[in-house]
Amino acid sequence: MADYIVELLNVTKIFPGVKALDNVSFNLKAGEILALLGENGAGKSTLMKVLSGVYTKDSGLIKVFGEIVEGLTPKKAQDLGIAIIHQELNMCSHLSVAENIFLGREIVRNGILAQKEMNAEAKKILDSLSLDIDPETIVGTLPVSKQQMVEIAKALSTNAKILIMDEPTSALTAKEIEELFKIIRKLRDEGRGIVYISHRLEELRYIVDRVTILRDGQFIKTMDFKDTDMREIISLMVGRDIKEKYPRIECGVRKKIFEVKNLNAGRMVRNINLELYEGEIVGIAGLMGAGRTETSRAIFGADPKDSGEIWLHGRKVTINSPADAIREGIVVVPEDRKKYGLCTKLSIKNNISLPNLNRLIMFLGYINKKQENIMSQTAVDNLKIKLTSADANADSLSGGNQQKVVVGKWLANNSKIIIFDEPTRGIDVAAKVEIYNIMNQLKRQGIGVLFISSELPEILGISDRIIVMCDGRITGEMLASEATQDKILELATKFETKLA
Ligand SMILES: Nc1ncnc2c1ncn2[C@@H]1O[C@H](COP(=O)(O)OP(=O)(O)OP(=O)(O)O)[C@@H](O)[C@H]1O
Ligand SMILES: [Mg+2]
Repeated sequence: MADYIVELLNVTKIFPGVKALDNVSFNLKAGEILALLGENGAGKSTLMKVLSGVYTKDSGLIKVFGEIVEGLTPKKAQDLGIAIIHQELNMCSHLSVAENIFLGREIVRNGILAQKEMNAEAKKILDSLSLDIDPETIVGTLPVSKQQMVEIAKALSTNAKILIMDEPTSALTAKEIEELFKIIRKLRDEGRGIVYISHRLEELRYIVDRVTILRDGQFIKTMDFKDTDMREIISLMVGRDIKEKYPRIECGVRKKIFEVKNLNAGRMVRNINLELYEGEIVGIAGLMGAGRTETSRAIFGADPKDSGEIWLHGRKVTINSPADAIREGIVVVPEDRKKYGLCTKLSIKNNISLPNLNRLIMFLGYINKKQENIMSQTAVDNLKIKLTSADANADSLSGGNQQKVVVGKWLANNSKIIIFDEPTRGIDVAAKVEIYNIMNQLKRQGIGVLFISSELPEILGISDRIIVMCDGRITGEMLASEATQDKILELATKFETKLA
């Protein structure tokens, strides 16, 4: 017993209308990596927020290093050696990397902020993580993956003994993930206890010692990783067996509906040519930073195009803004849902109706509330969005359910071309299958789907055709039936060696 550095006993946490944690018990040893698993909304983040003093438990007991702790606050948790890297990025984007790392614990000498010293300290921490980031860089100018690494550096800078990582890899490249795993293993070998939350179940085997599974706010099971397998883990998470991880449907050949010709936009979109047929899912594979998101933004009119044409149903269309694109029925489900996909301070219902107002506005500009309710209820039902009320703020939803709302608002629109940019990021196994089924449903309706993803198994499993991008260019194209991971990877790294 004494080797548990964290013990949570019968912890309950109730939010208005939802029991997020129902008598959950949990423990963590020194020198282990424990994966905390469960579907979207299972209570993983809530449990870890209780442990790190962000939320106050309604009942139950918290023991840290064998001592009962009461009245936990974030500050108190930090003093006890607990650090948490939150699921959604938490950086102050207008401050520098060093300022973020030392936020709230600034080094002060003679009443003056010791900028130089903090920069030097920050540099040391970044170096120890092999991160080539200047501590004076303004965080907002860094790509998401780098911001994520700064979060990790920040957590480590407190010299935490208990480190909680809530989906740390969801925005990282394969190389960065490898680096991160090295760091995590090193931290474990130094005797720290690490709680690791992830929906990327394939990663677990590289780092995990034990797994704890939650379902619907309840503790289900804790096991040694070596004594279990993916099948058991998934069925415990979901409460049933999942028959098919990648449901695929065939629709047959149909007519061409969409074409992008010689599209150029900045450095990351170079001479892109692609076409999409009715009821076809085209996967766009590539490493992070290959220019896939930039391409989708240029198509959507979110970024200016330097040159190129877009054709829809044999007609050349002009798209200079997202409003133009939405009018034509070309929409994007963006990768950074918090920044571009959702108004987190609006209700779930409003988020769904916002891009569809043209169909809800009645005589004199009033909104048809009844129709709005039906629209949001349809999206909630279709996507099985887990919520207490559609009137709640979008940010009260668990991460994965927020993603579903973003998908839901475009489904309510009469879209013809839907670009999904990493739609399953942060989404649990069962919900992933739901998203694939939605794509299949769109396919059946004759909608063209562009499916950007960095996870090769799902690209291979769901697409009809696959386009590979590297360094802003298309480096290859093939039918999914002829594709392999190796072929795709080769094309995805075509210019890598040259760049390095
Ligand atoms: N601040 C909040 N206010 C109201 N309800 C909340 C709040 N935070 C979480 N919940 C609810 O508590 C439940 C558990 O959510 P939690 O975020 O802990 O899930 P999770 O397991 O981390 O899911 P995900 O994998 O999607 O991140 C969900 O039903 C969620 O809607
Ligand atoms: Mg979560």
